[in-house]
Amino acid sequence: MSFVLWLTGLSGAGKSTLSAALAPVLREKFGRCEVLDGDEVREFLSKGLGFSKEDRDTNVLRIAYVASLLARNDIPVIVAAISPYAEARARAKEIIGPDKFIEIHAHCSLEKLTERDVKGLYKKALAGEISHFTGVSDPYEAPKSPDVTVDSASETVEEGLNKILKVLEERQWIA
Ligand code: ADX
Repeated sequence: MSFVLWLTGLSGAGKSTLSAALAPVLREKFGRCEVLDGDEVREFLSKGLGFSKEDRDTNVLRIAYVASLLARNDIPVIVAAISPYAEARARAKEIIGPDKFIEIHAHCSLEKLTERDVKGLYKKALAGEISHFTGVSDPYEAPKSPDVTVDSASETVEEGLNKILKVLEERQWIA
């Protein structure tokens, strides 16, 4: 039995940071784990795709397909992708298998994201230099009933990590 931990949320909300913290824990417990990160996927598997709704949906479905292949071979998978559209995430859940799909909302207020702005993208988006920027000039449909919500503005990485591990315990995937 394997699973896919699907982290959705705005750019800079902590998806990659959380996956970097989660991956070694899962490797320790299961002997393996694979991470599919939007930024990285877009350099290879989704190279050439942009940020229109259609391209984002294509990106998300490609990630879901690869995640499903890994999960059916008992490899725990972490996905870190904005995946802004609820319908595409629902399709991802179907592709992967609803019982294997854990939806994690990496939340953070726009105010905080703009203040942090690690990649400098919010500043550019607010200045109109990047169009269709999620949360600024493009929609983000937050999950209505995620399995877990973590908030990088009010929680530490460790707290977020523990919340996620608790869900895995509840499902009896880890002791
Ligand atoms: S998704 O919407 O298709 O799921 P994905 O997670 O793969 O997005 O890629 C998001 C990353 O692309 C961001 O972290 C950011 O570095 C970069 N990026 C570039 N342009 C945009 C944009 N218009 N909206 C959001 N992210 C963008």
